[in-house]
Amino acid sequence: MKNPKAVSSDSRTTALGTDKIRKDFPIFSQNIHGKPLVYFDNAATTQKPRAVIDALLFYYQTQNANVHRGIHYLSEIATSLYEASRVKIQRFLNARESKEIIFVRGATEGINLVAHSYGRTYLKRGDEIIISGLEHHSNIVPWQILSEQTGAVLRVIPVSDKGELLLEEYERLLSKRTKFVAVGHMSNALGTINPVKKIIQMAHHWNARVLVDGAQAVPHLPVDVQDLDCDFYVFSGHKIYGPTGIGALYGKAGLLEAMPPYQSGGDMISYVTFGKTLYNTLPYKFEAGTPHIEGVIGLGAAIDYVLGLGLDKIETYERELLAYGTKALLSLPGIKIIGTAKEKGCILSFVMDGVHPHDIATILDRQGIAIRAGHHCAMPVMERFGLPATARASLAFYNTRGEIDALIQALKHVREVFKT
Ligand code: ALA
Repeated sequence: MKNPKAVSSDSRTTALGTDKIRKDFPIFSQNIHGKPLVYFDNAATTQKPRAVIDALLFYYQTQNANVHRGIHYLSEIATSLYEASRVKIQRFLNARESKEIIFVRGATEGINLVAHSYGRTYLKRGDEIIISGLEHHSNIVPWQILSEQTGAVLRVIPVSDKGELLLEEYERLLSKRTKFVAVGHMSNALGTINPVKKIIQMAHHWNARVLVDGAQAVPHLPVDVQDLDCDFYVFSGHKIYGPTGIGALYGKAGLLEAMPPYQSGGDMISYVTFGKTLYNTLPYKFEAGTPHIEGVIGLGAAIDYVLGLGLDKIETYERELLAYGTKALLSLPGIKIIGTAKEKGCILSFVMDGVHPHDIATILDRQGIAIRAGHHCAMPVMERFGLPATARASLAFYNTRGEIDALIQALKHVREVFKT
């Protein structure tokens, strides 16, 4: 195949300034297997801009201390940076108050926190929890475990052939037994963007609480938790150009206040005796132990970076890139895109006749192109489509049409290899 030298963007893809943006990401200056890196595994994790890397470095070189504990200069600096990131996330999600933002390890821990703390306190035998057939395992298994522990029943919204949730079936599942609905904002396996505002309204009609898993959505779409009126919203920092091991849970203050701690130890208390412990106020009640301070600071830097580019511009650019990629993929014989929802984020999940997705990913890797192949931690989605796996190219604002062209060339090469 031709060396995919043409990974630069063309005039249409520079609306966001992609050529300049790519220079913010040091990782793109290297070759992989002798080829320019084409990174299409953004749904798994995103690359980090210099602004995030520098914030981490600067913190460790000049600001490192524990938070909320010291009366010394560095501790005050670290605490103010830590709390400033909380305010950034509050504004980013348009939460009413910064105490509604709880730092967690990622979306998975946020969901587990709610399932344990809210779920075990307020759900009982015979109650019903609704999830969707598009969920990542992280938004399935915690609710299964909660069902086993409480006797609540798990119900699942079915999925159409296009990968859209069947809302009329959801309507049928809802009843006064429904106490909780947990649904992804955007599917990691197919890219479907779910109509979460409507899903929330329908659940609230029955007084059910709703958690939205925003891990895949926040890097691509503006999110307003007050407008959505969700009860809980979770996301992971590493999928929005920030560090791994950090994420945020938004919860309505009244609900978080009425929930018991998830983990216990230092910082989540206001008074301890051997007889009794009084818990700290929000958000600290849910942040036991020394937190991931540099992660929080790095996440704040990532949010600043994304907001600096503009989520509306990112959304427009990525939408165009997805349309370009979809058309290009469909021009290849023997390729089928899995997930063709009308509202879709920039994920291209596909299969190729006669070639296992793992083989596609391995051959692409030798061309410097990183995609993911497998069940994408969403086995029920694969089962719904009767597939063991798909190949998945997940795009981000730093990807270009030139890179899509390189992907198409590489897929032609895969076809050639499997012809012989
Ligand atoms: N949830 C991540 C993905 O979809 C890991 O790849």
